[in-house]
Amino acid sequence: MTRPIDTVLHYHQRTKHQLNGYAKGPESLDWDEQPNPFRRYTGCKTVALPLPGAELSVLYADLDQPKNIAPQPLSLTNLGLLLELSFGLSAWKQFGPDRWALRCNPSSGNLHPTEVYLLSTDPAILSAGVYHYVSHDHHLEQRSQLAAAAGPAELYIGLTSIHWREAWKYGERAFRYCQHDIGHALAALSYAAACLGWSIELCSEVSDADLSAWLGLDRHADFVVEEQETADLFCRLHTVSTAGSGVDMLALLETLQSAVWFGKAEPLSGRHFYRWPIIDEIAESTQKPETQLERQTFPAFELAKPSYLGAASRLIRQRRSAQQFNGKAADLPQADFYRILSALLPNAKPPFTAWNWQPQVHLFLFVHRVQGLEPGLYLLPRDPQALPQLQAAFSADFSWQAVSAPFSFYQLTAGNVRQAAKTLSCHQAIASDSAFSLGMLAHFSESLETEAWRYRHLFWECGLLGQILYLEAEAAGHRGTGIGCFFDDAVHGVLGLRDNAWQSLYHFTVGTPLDDGRLQSLPAYQHLQRE
Ligand SMILES: Cc1cc2nc3c(=O)[nH]c(=O)nc-3n(C[C@H](O)[C@H](O)[C@H](O)COP(=O)(O)O)c2cc1C
Repeated sequence: MTRPIDTVLHYHQRTKHQLNGYAKGPESLDWDEQPNPFRRYTGCKTVALPLPGAELSVLYADLDQPKNIAPQPLSLTNLGLLLELSFGLSAWKQFGPDRWALRCNPSSGNLHPTEVYLLSTDPAILSAGVYHYVSHDHHLEQRSQLAAAAGPAELYIGLTSIHWREAWKYGERAFRYCQHDIGHALAALSYAAACLGWSIELCSEVSDADLSAWLGLDRHADFVVEEQETADLFCRLHTVSTAGSGVDMLALLETLQSAVWFGKAEPLSGRHFYRWPIIDEIAESTQKPETQLERQTFPAFELAKPSYLGAASRLIRQRRSAQQFNGKAADLPQADFYRILSALLPNAKPPFTAWNWQPQVHLFLFVHRVQGLEPGLYLLPRDPQALPQLQAAFSADFSWQAVSAPFSFYQLTAGNVRQAAKTLSCHQAIASDSAFSLGMLAHFSESLETEAWRYRHLFWECGLLGQILYLEAEAAGHRGTGIGCFFDDAVHGVLGLRDNAWQSLYHFTVGTPLDDGRLQSLPAYQHLQRE
């Protein structure tokens, strides 16, 4: 029998991009058949949410100390704001006849495999049941109704993935991107909650099978076969206290047994031309069982003030991926650079307040243009205890020169690393024209040996860091872009890594954006105002 870890290692190896060939994907794309990025269920009651767009007074800098933010009352308006600021539309873009929506959460290829559900056992806000959020319409679809709740009144949020949406374009590597997107989504949720003085508890003890049943994902007949949804994570919303004590499973199970279900998912694509069975295999092999309660409280440390002094909600709505950078822009001020990097270290602030594990992911940086810092290759260990292991694994040629910074930070080698960064990130100029780009190096095979499902967590951690980078880049007056396309083993070769003890799982780049004047930008929710 194949062990789950073997399936993971096989999948991971097979979905690497190599300098001499990309991971297996579709040979051609039929853009008319692109899966609908908005899932809707027919045959459900809808619950309208108040019109989106309100600015909140909480500043981005306030999110550094979330305990000082006065909690907003739990109301449908504020719940709508929570969903909008994490998963809602942020703008429409138009180029000629083509028009597409952008959202507060980013997504590889803008394909948005992540779906969002609310589970209410709090009839004061939403009658007990499961609700699906439709970001386009900013409303909820009631998927199930529950008899009176047995346990305490709570609101939970479930995140799921439709692998097909991503696989349609990216083929076998798509499972990785779905996991990155979940990490971004969790962080987006955590930041949005903090804007309201609320917090998110990640209930990571719940099994995927339970979550699938609770959210109705196991009602396979309600979905087109190729467009099934997979359970990813389950969170509890705290609107008053932030203490995390897990889910009252028994009460929840009892309540959920009374569920009456409504609706069927509308098809997303007319045809499903390519099949990627390896995605079903990896999804199956990384299914999480029920586990012990795991929670982390990271010690608080003070961050330097961000350059941006405005409202957090405004910054969240303005977040975008840069498509091009100005390779001749002025250097990124060192204070901004250090603020960005320190925001990636575990701290008692969002999104780490929603994260349950010690850092497994460390960063190597291609520094191109940062004030007062020699261009070159650098390393930021996110947990200083990992340093000896990293040093032993890396090429013996590196100098490991400690840099005078507010945290442990090392120069590995000095020199112009622009061409290397570009080549390694699938020849994308966004990795070389920026102020710096980076790779996220995860503690890999050892951490998966007994619990292969933690493969997904590693990508979630990377996505979480990616979301911090997106917002921090905006706060520094710059812009970021996630980079899922890179040549895995070529990257490992440059670092001198010889086995899969460490693997690079995600790249990111930050710099001065160049706007494409041909693109028109339109407001996010004008279509609702006209109706
Ligand atoms: C996991 C992930 C991987 C991505 N990879 C790339 C990439 O390799 N190259 C690129 O130009 N953009 C990449 N992006 C940026 C997406 O294309 C972008 O998020 C999407 O088009 C939506 O635009 P927005 O971020 O402005 O909302 C990636 C984003 C994510 C979340």
